[in-house]
Amino acid sequence: MNPLETPSFPSRLPQVETTIFTIMSALAAKHEAINLGQGFPDFPCDRKLIAEVNAAMLADRNQYPPMIGIAELRNGISQKIKNLYGHHYDADADITITAGGTQGILTAVLACVSPGDEVIIIEPAYDSYRPSIALAGGKTISVSLNVVRDEIGQVASYQIPWDALANAINPKTRLIIINTPHNPTGMVWDKADLDRLANLVRNTSALILSDEVYEHMVYDGAQHHSVASHPELAARSFLISSFGKTYHVTGWKVGYVAAPPALTKEFRKVHQFNVFTVNTPMQYGLASYLSDAEHYLNLPAFYQAKRDFFRAGLSQTKFKLLPTPGTYFQCVDYSSLNIPQSKLSEVDFCKWLTTEVGVAAIPVSAFYEQITESGVIRFCFAKQDQTLTNALQRLQTL
Ligand SMILES: Cc1ncc(COP(=O)(O)O)c(C=O)c1O
Repeated sequence: MNPLETPSFPSRLPQVETTIFTIMSALAAKHEAINLGQGFPDFPCDRKLIAEVNAAMLADRNQYPPMIGIAELRNGISQKIKNLYGHHYDADADITITAGGTQGILTAVLACVSPGDEVIIIEPAYDSYRPSIALAGGKTISVSLNVVRDEIGQVASYQIPWDALANAINPKTRLIIINTPHNPTGMVWDKADLDRLANLVRNTSALILSDEVYEHMVYDGAQHHSVASHPELAARSFLISSFGKTYHVTGWKVGYVAAPPALTKEFRKVHQFNVFTVNTPMQYGLASYLSDAEHYLNLPAFYQAKRDFFRAGLSQTKFKLLPTPGTYFQCVDYSSLNIPQSKLSEVDFCKWLTTEVGVAAIPVSAFYEQITESGVIRFCFAKQDQTLTNALQRLQTL
């Protein structure tokens, strides 16, 4: 063997390739398209939050914080969850600060899934779930949301596939991953859905991972129904959230996991040797900012205004709008457009939309392992009004 050659080894994640988000963002940049693809705000966060982080840095809070996160931030999270969802998570025993939602998800999966265990996910699903399960040696069992179609065959909404979920649960099921509000469809679970899930898992040993990173983006006066609001589910759940989504700082990658002590104990064993802890000044800044509840209570109105503005503009096009009760994503069915491109696959339609119309979107088919075409694409409306206006002008030419 050539000693200068890198030895080969079997990939741990042979299926993983460049994600559609990277592909579409690169295409958008190349064609100077307006990027409504990847989910991040194009407006700044509150200067107050930056000032709090700066103050923490200048106060020399720059060394390792405790492994589980600083007490001020964990206390604030405990208080927030109690106020919003009525469940007490002990700040010391139950709450861990993570490097964003993604690290929380991977760490939770690694902490409880052993080789051969089954993990149920509901597709379309956020792209980190599958690789996390694979790294743990688990087996992904996917069930798909039921697609509800209208009288002319266009997608109207999505429903939780209760029968498929019930059939998928068996003694090998270690974990069920749910996501509400849901990326990419914007769908939200209600109280009856949580009850139904609790009924399904009651006499099983299945744990739940509830990805609630969009918890503060629920509209039209509705409430977010967290697993924390359901004592039976809370007793077997990892609850995941992310400050990146809530405070418009996706690049900071700070989030948290709340879970009962038995789950948190195992979670922290992995967390300790995964990242050990999360950067100190951000934690102090977030703790101080979190103490003013208005900063997250204002979020539904803020994003609802953007959603309504974007939907009003899209209603001037031939796209069929799907309901958006939550998240900052708007899905549309493009099969209603009277153009030859409406017959393209979702990926090809998005590429065409980016290069020829100048607006980037994400194909919903990319959230399934087996390509599942339904003629639906996802736009992100976490953008300045001017960005949305410019995108709408282009989309209205269709
Ligand atoms: C459903 C879902 N879960 C988790 C995350 C990850 O959050 P973070 O950026 O905090 O890692 C995202 C980000 O897009 C998401 O959409």
